[in-house]
Amino acid sequence: MENKITSLFNIKYPIIQGGMIWNSGYKLASAVSNAGGLGLIGAGSMYPEVLRQHIQKCKKATDKPFGVNVPMLYPNVEEIMNILVEEGVKIVFTSAGNPKTWTSFLKENGITVVHVVSSSKFALKAQEAGVDAVVAEGFEAGGHNGREETTTLTLIPMVREKITVPLIAAGGVATGRGMLAVMVLGADGVQVGSRFAASIESSSHDHFKDTILQAEEGSTQVTLKELAPVRLIKNKFYQDIQDLYAKCPTPEELKELLGRARAKKGMFEGDLVEGELEIGQIAGLIHEILPAGTIVENMVREFEDAKREVPSF
Ligand SMILES: Cc1cc2nc3c(=O)[nH]c(=O)nc-3n(C[C@H](O)[C@H](O)[C@H](O)COP(=O)(O)O)c2cc1C
Repeated sequence: MENKITSLFNIKYPIIQGGMIWNSGYKLASAVSNAGGLGLIGAGSMYPEVLRQHIQKCKKATDKPFGVNVPMLYPNVEEIMNILVEEGVKIVFTSAGNPKTWTSFLKENGITVVHVVSSSKFALKAQEAGVDAVVAEGFEAGGHNGREETTTLTLIPMVREKITVPLIAAGGVATGRGMLAVMVLGADGVQVGSRFAASIESSSHDHFKDTILQAEEGSTQVTLKELAPVRLIKNKFYQDIQDLYAKCPTPEELKELLGRARAKKGMFEGDLVEGELEIGQIAGLIHEILPAGTIVENMVREFEDAKREVPSF
């Protein structure tokens, strides 16, 4: 399955496991890379020295390419970028920030840089900043999300129209059929989050993984648009946010409710009541916790099967 994305990263399949706080440590990233996709360590929930350990363990667990996702909103981002260079990381996916800030630094250090966006305007800005590829993530996606509510089905062809660098589609892709659909729309590859959150190698708590399996259509919602829009499961924590909204809260009051450790509490410690449980709409299609390698294999098989059916349309 050779194309622009497989040759950019030197991988077998254009399937990227999205960086996910509290889910994607070295075990998940190396399992995806060993299966022929591209695994990403999610730096967003790691102290810098913890990240360093994950990178070192990942190098031992796979001889295939892997990368690191860095949400740029954290205060210690400079320390993280220096660690990436020191550890010889070859691929970095940046998100949640301005791509201009770090792209040149990373590229000067020989790193392939990809930036995550949720609109064609920011896709263009990322291309102008010199990135090697763009991830365009639709409103279906789990975790932090765009304000404009642009779905993957509309976002991908609009971004394709604007940029010339390779395009990776994210949001709502968990099967080979979904992968084929977004590639028909103009993507060169896919970034998959939710499906890999429900894998054996994901570092999240079993309670969270079981919640993903139980999720149905309508189980998730995007909220906290004033702070940082996030798609999550509609549990008690979500209901507390809605109750506060009914009182027209100030951003400070929202921040206070959110606190700092809700995502850790929910996804890592398994508190399904008070914790933040980030997952995408596609959770309604996830019925089994599988090894990450099997998820990759299944997607490739489904993709090839679906492609064979296309002439009959
Ligand atoms: C639990 C969870 C945590 C996430 N954390 C991050 C993150 O730290 N950085 C990031 O850029 N994207 C993050 N994302 C987004 C994913 O990398 C990916 O783009 C998204 O999940 C794709 O949509 P899908 O959930 O429909 O597969 C997260 C998604 C989930 C489900």
